[in-house]
Amino acid sequence: TRIALVFGGRSGEHSISCATAASVLRTLDRERYDVLPVGITRAGRWVLVADDPAALEIRDGRLPEVPDTGHQVIVPLGGLDHDWQSVDRDGRVTDLGQVDVVFPLLHGPFGEDGTIQGLLELADLRYVGCGVLSSAAMMDKHLMKVVFAEAGLLVGPYAVITDVQWRRDRAAALDAATSLQFPVFVKPARAGSSVGVYKVDRPEELEVAIDKARDHDPKVLVEQGIVGREIECGVLQGRGAGSPRVSECGEITVAGGHEFYDFEAKYLDEDNVRITAPADLLQGVREEVRRVAAVAFEAGGCEGLARVDCFVTEDGSVLVNEINTMPGFTPFSMYPQAWAASGLTYPELIDELIGLALE
Ligand code: DAL
Ligand code: MG
Repeated sequence: TRIALVFGGRSGEHSISCATAASVLRTLDRERYDVLPVGITRAGRWVLVADDPAALEIRDGRLPEVPDTGHQVIVPLGGLDHDWQSVDRDGRVTDLGQVDVVFPLLHGPFGEDGTIQGLLELADLRYVGCGVLSSAAMMDKHLMKVVFAEAGLLVGPYAVITDVQWRRDRAAALDAATSLQFPVFVKPARAGSSVGVYKVDRPEELEVAIDKARDHDPKVLVEQGIVGREIECGVLQGRGAGSPRVSECGEITVAGGHEFYDFEAKYLDEDNVRITAPADLLQGVREEVRRVAAVAFEAGGCEGLARVDCFVTEDGSVLVNEINTMPGFTPFSMYPQAWAASGLTYPELIDELIGLALE
């Protein structure tokens, strides 16, 4: 099977995508898969890169990046039976052959948000993961909450501030947000890995945080902080018409000066973040989290995979916080660890995802 692994991209999660690609490159069984590593630079150029996982890992606090190798990749719009090509800086064309399946290992805008999925649909190529609408809607922290609430799931209190609202009547927008209980979290509606997320303890600090979040997305969400445990589950699409499969629950605990599970805690501070899978939960709570994850996956119209992040409050209520349609797969990521706790190893998980895309 010929697989194009596409990673990097124009989002704030560029480096996380590289780190995920490194793990997947290391894992893919080369007897079964012929891999075409395609990087997207921060500027958005698609380039052929070396099949070198070590160059793409997060190491000693260094965040990896797709280099502009000068070998631009051309994706054929004609579907499976057309060749991909690369063009070097002198205009020399190299034929790269055909690709059976694309693995868009991209996080955040221009990757996890339906844009690349739309390109792949137009190109008539098979790909791993959710389709256009699901990716786009589940990238938006506001729309996903609307969909989850409609499906009967509990979501925390929040306020949305659109670009128009902020520019037309800032005071009214702030009023709506200050009616929430503090602390609150201010988030760009469409970003990930906590990029541009701020914890705000007092109403006076809200305006500055909203302006900063708006650097990442003109639409901003203000979420009431939930006191509870952070419990996450992996979901894999069922085979055929089967129900989605849900992994064991995993728990995130953060210590060591991080106010929350921020970017630094997620990727640069292995000592102070613990992932426990399976999480130590009462049986009824475990079942409820897994049920919520399955409902969220279906309500979101997801395909292939997703990770559903919940809060379990002291009284045992399960609130859904968000879904990620292309969760991180770095060695410190929850998604593969939750599946490992459910008996599915990392190589098996990758095989499964590719198999689902080819089904
Ligand atoms: N957005 C990051 C990659 C995650 O959800 O794992
Ligand atoms: Mg996310």
